[in-house]
Amino acid sequence: MPLLAAATGQTPARRPVWFMRQAGRSLPEYREIRADRGMLESCFDPDLVCEITLQPVRRHDTDAAILFSDIVVPLRAAGVDLDIVAGTGPVIAQPVRTAADVAALPRLDAEAVGAVTAAIGQILGELPENKALIGFAGAPFTLASYLIEGGPSRTYQRTKTMMLAEPELWHRLMGTLTDITITFLQAQIAAGVDAVQLFDSWAGALSEETYRSHVAPHSARVFAEIAEAGVPRIHFGVGTGELLKAMTDVGADVIGVDWRVPLDEAVRRVEAPVAVQGNLDPTVLLAGEDVLRREVARVLRDGEKAIDAGARGHIVNLGHGVLPDTPAEAVTRAVELIHSL
Ligand code: CP3
Repeated sequence: MPLLAAATGQTPARRPVWFMRQAGRSLPEYREIRADRGMLESCFDPDLVCEITLQPVRRHDTDAAILFSDIVVPLRAAGVDLDIVAGTGPVIAQPVRTAADVAALPRLDAEAVGAVTAAIGQILGELPENKALIGFAGAPFTLASYLIEGGPSRTYQRTKTMMLAEPELWHRLMGTLTDITITFLQAQIAAGVDAVQLFDSWAGALSEETYRSHVAPHSARVFAEIAEAGVPRIHFGVGTGELLKAMTDVGADVIGVDWRVPLDEAVRRVEAPVAVQGNLDPTVLLAGEDVLRREVARVLRDGEKAIDAGARGHIVNLGHGVLPDTPAEAVTRAVELIHSL
């Protein structure tokens, strides 16, 4: 499997590439299948999860499938009242803001994500042997930000206020979310995923010092609890150029890098022999063939420089998710270029 080879320091048969949000609104076949079904309802339907997970792999020939799910799925499965609203994201019915709210948070029983593990079994039965299935979970901080804010936020005002003003409460909340994340990832690993990615998408809102004191111990527990399974563990966030070392230090095998930091600079920052994943700007897929060619060539060169600078390997990806307006043909073309250059 090219993706596993790149993650573990072996030489891949071809350059592995997959894209965050490769499943989703950029695909006409996704829009059709989702036309009359809600997002959350789809995430708990194994046949749909299997079909949507495989759609981009069939169309684009990516080297990995990412499980079609969402970071809030384990919270919903545990019993938190929430919805995923199109164009907005997760919306929490009763935001978690007080000690009583934190104490009342449910725990996750692995059986409650049985639809997800059933879907993984189906996907593995259909996925070609040389392609990896990536499982994932939201990291405790990013989950906490949705629970506390009640939905997406630009400033993370309430989240950071709880962190600073009520550190004990904050750590209790993070402890509960860490338990949920571990249960969710362990269930996916037991069902057979080949690699996992922990999405701390919004950690870039924090200084390195705050990340290390208020977030890292919890994410480190997630990575430690799944280490024994031996599947590569990818860690990703947006705008985390200043946190790359701290996010690697929590125990990642592969560090995700967005488009703001060149891959070879990223590997110098982490000071560890991990693989790098990234980092095309998602808008490159909207900018036409000449730009696409130039930017793909640049990222591949940066990946080689990163390996020369000590990276274990390079998994090609975007710096964040495929934008919904992206023409599906541009994604296919990017994969072709990445495999041929
Ligand atoms: O293809 C894949 O990458 C796998 C599927 C996936 C989804 N969500 C499907 C989805 C993954 C890995 C996620 C993780 C996720 N969800 C993250 C971390 C990744 C990141 O983007 O940083 C976050 C922050 C969320 C929360 C969330 N869920 C957001 C911000 C949104 C977008 C809201 C919107 O409509 O623009 C969602 C909804 C969501 N999750 C969609 C998909 C395909 C869109 C729902 C739809 O099709 O209507």
